Amino acid sequence: MADARPFHWEYHPPAVPREIFRVEGGHPLRGSVGVSGAKNAALKMLAAAVLTGERCRLTNVPEIEDVRVMAETLRDLGVVVDHPSANVYEVSAGDVDWLFVPLEAAAKMRASFMLLGPLLARFGEVIISNPGGDRIGRRPVDLHVDAMRALGAEIDYRYGYYYAKAPGRLRGTEVTFPVVSVMGTENAMLAATLAEGHTTIRPAAQEPEVDDLIAFLQKMGAAVERTAPDTIEVEGRKRLRGAEHHIVPDRIEAGTFAVAAAVTGGHVTLHGAPCDHLGTFVEVLDRAGVAISCTDDTIEVDASGSGGSSRPGEFRPLDIETGPYPGLATDLQPPTCVLLTQAAGRSAVHESIFEDRLEWLSELRRMGADVEVIDAHHALIDGPARLRGAELDIPDLRAGASLLLAALAAEGVSRIHGGHHVRRGYENIEAKFLDLGARIERLQEEDPTVPS
Ligand code: UD1
Repeated sequence: MADARPFHWEYHPPAVPREIFRVEGGHPLRGSVGVSGAKNAALKMLAAAVLTGERCRLTNVPEIEDVRVMAETLRDLGVVVDHPSANVYEVSAGDVDWLFVPLEAAAKMRASFMLLGPLLARFGEVIISNPGGDRIGRRPVDLHVDAMRALGAEIDYRYGYYYAKAPGRLRGTEVTFPVVSVMGTENAMLAATLAEGHTTIRPAAQEPEVDDLIAFLQKMGAAVERTAPDTIEVEGRKRLRGAEHHIVPDRIEAGTFAVAAAVTGGHVTLHGAPCDHLGTFVEVLDRAGVAISCTDDTIEVDASGSGGSSRPGEFRPLDIETGPYPGLATDLQPPTCVLLTQAAGRSAVHESIFEDRLEWLSELRRMGADVEVIDAHHALIDGPARLRGAELDIPDLRAGASLLLAALAAEGVSRIHGGHHVRRGYENIEAKFLDLGARIERLQEEDPTVPS
C-alpha cells in the first residue's frame, strides 16, 4: 500500500490565509513605541521548558505566529502549554505522549529543531523532522546533529526524519563548531544541562538571546555559564526545576523601527529598547549620519531635519558587513539596505552569514531603488533613490518587514502580498506603525486558498 504520508521532498505546506499590507507612503513616523520580547529568545525558552517536569512561566513572550506554532507543537507532544494572559506562557512537561516532531511543525518553523536537544536529553529519544523555515539559502542542521553525536547520541536520517537515541544518559564532552551557530550552540547547551559530566561549547554564539537562555537555565538549576566570550561550559545535572523568566526585548524589532523612523524622515522614541544589544547597529546608523541617541532602555531616532539632523536623501553611504554577534546582525541587513537607498552615494553590502539573503533586493528595485546584486553575498546600492509605491511580494520574515519600511518611505501606495510572513516575527506590527502615524492596513487576499 502506498505510504499515506508524503516524503519530505514531496511535502507542500497547506495553504494559509494570505494577507496583504496596503501602505500609503510618504508620512513621517512620529511618537513613541514599545519594543516586544525577543522572538529568538522566547522560542528557545519554550523548548528549554521540556527539560523539567515542573511548571515554567515565561513573561514578555511576543504574540507572534512562530510562538503560536511552537506552543502548538509542544501541545501535540502532550506538553501542557497555558496562555493565561497576553505575553505570558506557562509550560508543564510532566508527561510527554509523543517523542515525535512532525514535518508539519518543522515545515512551518525551523526553530522546531530546538526540540532535538531537550527531548533527547530528558527522554532519551526523539524522532524529529528536518526543518524548513525561512526560504533563505541552504540552511542545514548538520552542526546540531554532530553536536548531539558528540554528546553520545546515535542519530540516523531516514525519509526526511532524524531518529535520535541516547543509550543511557548523554555524556559531557567538548563540542567544537566549525562556524558559529546560534541554534547549534543553544541545542548543544540544552542537551548538556542533563548530560553526565562536563561540556565545553566552542566557539559558542554570543547573541544576547543565548545569554538570556543561559539566565533562564540557571534559574532552572542548570550549571551553565559563559566562561569566555566564545565559550560556554556546562556541568550536567540529574534534574532541573521549574522557573520563571522575563524575556529580553527584541533587538531586531527595535532596529527595524529605528530604520522606519529614519527613512520616513520621522522622529521616534523606542521604549524598552535593548541599547546594549544594538551597539554595532547603532554605530552603523551613526556613521550614516542618522541622529540616534540611546539611554539604558530607550532609543531615539530623529530624521526630521530639525536641530540640523540629517533627512532621508542626506544620509552618508556605507560599506556594511553582517557577522555573528557582536557584528551587524544578518536579520538587520534588510532594514539597513532600505536605509542605504536614502544615502547620497554608493554603499556596499556584504551578507556573510546566509546565501540568498540578498534576493529580496529585486523587490526593492521594483520600488525604484538602484541596487546591483553582484553575487549571493554582495550587493551595491546607489542613492539617494526616490522610492515609489508598487505591488510587491514578501519572500520571508525580515525582507518582508523591510519592504514595509520601504513602502512607508515611498511616494504613493504599495500593496505588499504575503503579510503572514511578517506576523511570524513581529508583534502587532501594523498597530505599532499606526500609532506612529503610518497609513497602513492589513487586508485578506481575496483567494485564501492560494498557497504561500
Ligand atoms: C538564528 C536566528 C536567525 C538569525 C541567525 C543568524 C533563531 C530562531 N534564528 O538562526 O534569526 O538570522 O541565527 O544570526 O534564533 N549552519 C550550518 N549547519 C548547521 C547550522 C547552521 O552550516 O547545522 C550555517 C548556516 O547555514 C549559516 C551559519 O551556519 O550560514 C549560521 O547560522 P545559525 O547561526 O545556525 O542560524 P540559526 O541558528 O539557524
